[in-house]
Amino acid sequence: MSTNPSNDPRLAQASATDESLVSAHDKAADGSPDSHANYRMLPLVLLFVLSGLIFYAGTYLHRYSGNFSSEVFDERMLPGSGEVQVVQIDPLVLGKKQYAAACVTCHMPNGQGLPNVYPPLAGSEWVTGSEERLISIVLHGLKGPITVKGNTYNAAMPAFGQVAGGGYNWSDEKIAAVLTYIRQEWGNAAGPIETAKVTELRLKEAGRKEWTEAELLELP
Ligand code: HEC
Repeated sequence: MSTNPSNDPRLAQASATDESLVSAHDKAADGSPDSHANYRMLPLVLLFVLSGLIFYAGTYLHRYSGNFSSEVFDERMLPGSGEVQVVQIDPLVLGKKQYAAACVTCHMPNGQGLPNVYPPLAGSEWVTGSEERLISIVLHGLKGPITVKGNTYNAAMPAFGQVAGGGYNWSDEKIAAVLTYIRQEWGNAAGPIETAKVTELRLKEAGRKEWTEAELLELP
């Protein structure tokens, strides 16, 4: 057991007076009271950096979010190019799609229609003949008896154009496409229908109702 504590540093501390302790604490506190109690405000630099980031993020969203619209996806956009390419839509592809969406229920997938109810499009003189008559039928619809390939039909064919008083409101491009399609499908072999021709007739015949066979036969 140690009996000689003369070099124990604690003995020196024990000999400190009150004054020497207070002055030692004053020195350690650097003379000023600790008014912030160790709490520091966010450094101003950090505040500026964060504000800058938030501003940048806001601008970025504004620029690229497309207002979060569901229609913002554009399949014609090439990755990275930022440019929209105008892709030429093949009228036969569009026409086939339109046919399957609307005409097929009555005129059937094979274009044969339904005996005594819906007339055939395959081999129909109305389909492969006059462009003006064909466009008019699909723009405004048809009613009353009509003779197709020697058989008479008498039901209603709806209007598909953007015409007054309803109709399917198809664009001229869609109508041209579906007509181009039916003119070369099922063994039909007639030339394409131009969108401009559909537009021209839609404007010319604006405001009219369904056609009858007699009226159609007066068209060129
Ligand atoms: C609701 C059934 C129905 C739908 C859908 C329909 N048609 Fe018709 N279509 C008819 C009927 C019925 C006639 C005959 C009308 C009449 O008797 O006056 C006809 C007649 C026609 C004719 C003239 C006669 C012929 O057979 O050549 C063409 C051309 C024609 N439709 C094309 C189309 C096209 C193209 C579509 C799709 C865009 C379409 N139709 C959608 C029922 C329909």
